[in-house]
Amino acid sequence: MKMLITGGAGFIGSNFIFYMRRMHPDYDLVCVDKLTYAGNMETLAPVMGQPRFTFVRADIADRAAMYALFEAEKPDVVVNFAAESHVDRSIEAPAVFLQTNVQGTQVLLDASRKTGVRRYHQVSTDEVYGDLPLDRPDLFFTEKTPLRASSPYSASKAGADLLCGAYQRTYDMPITISRCSNNYGPYQFPEKLIPLMIANALEGKPLPVYGDGLNVRDWLYVEDHCAAIDLILEKGRVGQVYNIGGHNEQHNIDIVKAVLHILDKPESLITHVTDRKGHDRRYAIDPTFIHDELGWLPQTAFEDGIARTVRWYLDNKPWWEKIVSGEYRDYYERMYAHR
Ligand code: NAD
Ligand code: TYD
Repeated sequence: MKMLITGGAGFIGSNFIFYMRRMHPDYDLVCVDKLTYAGNMETLAPVMGQPRFTFVRADIADRAAMYALFEAEKPDVVVNFAAESHVDRSIEAPAVFLQTNVQGTQVLLDASRKTGVRRYHQVSTDEVYGDLPLDRPDLFFTEKTPLRASSPYSASKAGADLLCGAYQRTYDMPITISRCSNNYGPYQFPEKLIPLMIANALEGKPLPVYGDGLNVRDWLYVEDHCAAIDLILEKGRVGQVYNIGGHNEQHNIDIVKAVLHILDKPESLITHVTDRKGHDRRYAIDPTFIHDELGWLPQTAFEDGIARTVRWYLDNKPWWEKIVSGEYRDYYERMYAHR
């Protein structure tokens, strides 16, 4: 079994590579990553040079490079994690989101079709469904919820999902899609809520909470997401969308307080700042289908997962300190200095 994993130098892709090494040591893994600001070779250091692991630096939207790579490697399975993934950056500069998330996906689909892969899996997000109102806790995203993206990021992911559906039907390709809720865990880039708050708290900086902090996200430990994808690859039905989430809805402000509590830092560090444009109010996945059909259930309780995550950032300071002291500083200035 040879699996081509795109975006493997990022947060979820790298966790997926580590997960697959443990669960399927006999698989050949080929990681393709452009190494944008979010890709980090230090993350992949534990697997580099190991047998059955190959790293290729390339852009998924580069058609010639992808065709040559697929021809040379002939992967059995493709799992596409590669994406521009941050909503705030998509509000600032949407073009690269369409380039990577839509055109990149199309190139991968064409290459997969040309070489006849056994499975193409698209890693998507619950954000393609738009948001839910805060005063309707009875509503959840199911696989049948219409796509109603609200940010350039989620619109680009929705576009990619539609392409996957179209290629599956038109060319009868073996495609599956998963739509997961917000992930947290080791190796998440510090621009995202949880690692940003951990890093700022450790550095004694203000913790910038957008708006009233009452927006709700449905948090899943990254390894539970990886396990769900593995299961979909093994037992999932072609042409099917699988929502992934663990019924762990939390207000942003409560997440931030939980981080401060674990680190024993004062809540006075919390600073409410101008809200994100078009800020989605609530995400909430109904995971009934993946549970009923594949038997998937999350294994990590939030209290354990968040404690483990904070511990990881404490134990791996060089990993994130290098990031927050580099070009990320310009991004942080642009995004937060006058907010
Ligand atoms: P990330 O930003 O941490 O990593 C993205 C990786 O893709 C980086 O290594 C980057 O270098 C690479 N990349 C970007 N553009 C590329 C290109 N053109 N060619 C090749 N590689 C490229 O993102 P993440 O949080 O790990 O998300 C991975 C996937 O999971 C994305 O598709 C995202 O939409 C989806 N997802 C994320 C979450 C979440 O909470 N983070 C939740 C659901 C779904
Ligand atoms: P984020 O991690 O960017 O994920 P997403 O927007 O894809 O859900 O943000 C999670 C939530 O936290 C979202 O409601 C925006 C909010 N947030 C803040 O309040 N402050 C911050 O500095 C960041 C990065 C996010």
